[in-house]
Formats: sequence, structure tokens, C-alpha cells
Amino acid sequence: MSEPTPVPRALRLAGDRPDDVRRAVQILQQGGIGGLPTETVYGLAADAFQPRAVARVFEAKQRPAFDPLIVHLPHLDWLPRVAREVSPLARQLAETFWPGPLTLVLPRQAAVPDLVTSGLESVAVRIPAHPLAREVIAQVGSPLAAPSANPFGRISPTTAQHVCDQLADRIDFVLDGGPCTVGVESTIVQVEPEGLRLLRPGGATVEEITAAFPQVTWLMSLTAPSQTAPQVAPGQLTQHYAPRTPLEVVAPSEFASRVQAWHPLCPTSRLGLLCWQEPPELPSNSPRSQIITHILSREGDLRTAAARLFASLRELDAAQTQLILAEQVPETGLGRAINDRLRRAGARGQEQNGSVNSPYSAPNGVRSSKNEWNPREDEKN
Ligand code: TXA
Ligand code: MG
Repeated sequence: MSEPTPVPRALRLAGDRPDDVRRAVQILQQGGIGGLPTETVYGLAADAFQPRAVARVFEAKQRPAFDPLIVHLPHLDWLPRVAREVSPLARQLAETFWPGPLTLVLPRQAAVPDLVTSGLESVAVRIPAHPLAREVIAQVGSPLAAPSANPFGRISPTTAQHVCDQLADRIDFVLDGGPCTVGVESTIVQVEPEGLRLLRPGGATVEEITAAFPQVTWLMSLTAPSQTAPQVAPGQLTQHYAPRTPLEVVAPSEFASRVQAWHPLCPTSRLGLLCWQEPPELPSNSPRSQIITHILSREGDLRTAAARLFASLRELDAAQTQLILAEQVPETGLGRAINDRLRRAGARGQEQNGSVNSPYSAPNGVRSSKNEWNPREDEKN
């Protein structure tokens, strides 16, 4: 891909000013690209039916062309514009979870540009819950392709400022719709005749989907995640969401001892701690000024934790620490998405060895002889 075309610094537009919203709409209609708030994370939006605009999104993010984009709609009536076939289960899922943080992978309409789908026969679609996102898409009059608005592999943005910090000189605008309320990306589910395949845990929990559709069969992922291979189900890169600082994910039972062992080994270094509910006990002689602590949720609320996750990772990254130790959260509900992001943030260097231990893709991609995945088994881990 060629170097990104230089553009002036992105316009900062306010979501509560109608003139600013109209400006964002015009820019998108004219083939521009910009940061758009959704309830999960900020997206980097382009008209999905203008391949040149979509190409600019790939350039701005430095995203490999094999990693396809999610297409965003304002309401269900638009689904036939991008999806060729909507099975009864897919329709029920859409009616139950949209607008909201669930992305469905469905057979694509031929008219959807290859660049959007990376040439796959499927297209990933969702209707975001943020009213501003839906308003902009409806006014543009065309579905918007929007990956998360961060450089490829880096931490996703949950405020307009995060988008500016990373992409301001490569995109045309950022529309400020406030901080994202969910804080982790959408759940991606491929709808197949035999059941559902979880491609990425996210804002809509497996438990919520299972409660709404108790008869549904969960299928195992076909491949273990890989960093480099062309993806059968591409939402699964091993290393992703990564701070620049090395990050290590630690089980709750080992967190305190791992923290206590650090300073005797590296006496002058700064350590970042991402704690689930409480900071660990530290020995009295440990250098507290060198320990930067972030707590995800003192009350043990996974929603609060998800909403804080990426901002906390950014702040720890900016604090010039040598290492971030992140405590795993319970592997249930939104905790699956949080732990998934932490594992990938910490996967630096592991991609050579195959997969990180992801709950929805067991080694070799097979957990049971029937190719079925039972989410409850993971709660024991
Ligand atoms: O919450 C979200 O999903 C945010 C907001 C902006 O909507 N978007 C987002 O996009 O997280 P992105 O590009 O960062 O992640 C989308 C993932 C990618 O990993 C991609 O590989 C996967 O969706 N994906 C897209 N189309 C696909 C397809 N046809 N089959 C399988 N995976 C697909
Ligand atoms: Mg992303």
C-alpha cells in the first residue's frame, strides 16, 4: 500500500452541534474519513460503497488488506443492501440485539466492495446503539465501514481525544460523542446452519445470547488464532490491542506474589498495575512511588471494568513504566471480552508459538468431537 496522503489535522466536531454533524455527513459523502462515536469504541468511518474512501481507512490505520471491516447500518431495513441471505436465526439475533454491540457475519451482497470484506464471501454487519452514529449513517445515506479508530494492533479509542492522539494527521474529522459506554468492541458471531461461531467476545455477552436463544449450538472456532496467516475467520489476530509497554496477564491467585517479586529484581524500574478490584498487598519496603496502579472496578462490576479498560491501558502505557502487570478478571459475561483483550495485549512475541490461550479457540481448534463449544466449561478456568 502507498504512503498515506498528507491531510490537514482532523477537524474536531461536536456531536451536540447540528452544523458539526452535518459537516461530518458531508465529508463522508464526499469520500472523506473520520472518527465516529459508537457505544463500544470509536470507529474510523468511510462510506462502505466508496472503495477509495475505504482504502484511505486501511492506509490511515496501516491495516493489512486481509483484515476485513465491519459495516454499520442505521436500521434493520438496510440489511438487504449488504447481506444476501439472512437466516431466521440471524434475523432473530438482529431483532434482539440491535441496535447494540453484536456483529453478525452473514453472506454478503456482491455489490459490497471486495476491499471491505477482504474478498470473503461474508460481510460483518452491525447497528450501533449510539444514536449519533445511527443519525450520521442515515444522513450519509450509505452504510459506513468502520474499524476501530486506532493504528492497527494498538489500543482501541474510547474518547474523541484518543482518536486525535493517534490519527489526527491522517483523517479528516473526529466527531465527539462523549466517552464510549461499553468500552470493548462488539461481539462477532458467524451465523452458520449448524449454530453460532464466536469469532470475538465483546459487548454482547455469550450468556445474554444463550439466555435469549437457549437452543442455540455454539461451534468451535475453525482455526487457532494466528498473527500472519490469511484468516479463515479474520477477527482473531493473536497480538492486538497492544500498549507499547510489555504487558503480562497474571491469574488473581498469583498477582500479589508476581508484584512482590518485581522490585527486588528490578529495583529502579517503574511498574504499572492493572487490578481488577483492589491493589495487592505490597511489602513495606517496596517503592510505592514507582508503582502506578489502576483499578478496573472496586465494586467488582464487569461493565465498569470494560468501560475503563482501554483508557487505563493507555494511561499506564503513557506513564513510562517498564512492565504492566494485568490481573485477570472473572471469565464470565463481559469478563471474557476483557480477558481476551488483555491476553492479546500481552501476546507480544508469542505469535511465533501459535495461539494464546483463548477461551473460544482451544488448541488445534477442537474441544469436543462434535465441534461444539460449551461456554460454561470456561468458567472453571
Ligand atoms: O465494536 C466494534 O465492533 C467496533 C466499532 C467501531 O463498531 N469496530 C471494530 O472493528 O472493532 P475492527 O475492524 O477493529 O474489528 C473488526 C473485526 C476484525 O478483526 C475483522 O477481522 C472482523 O471484524 N471481520 C470483519 N469482517 C469479517 C468477516 N466477513 N468474517 C470474519 N471476521 C470479520
Ligand atoms: Mg480493532
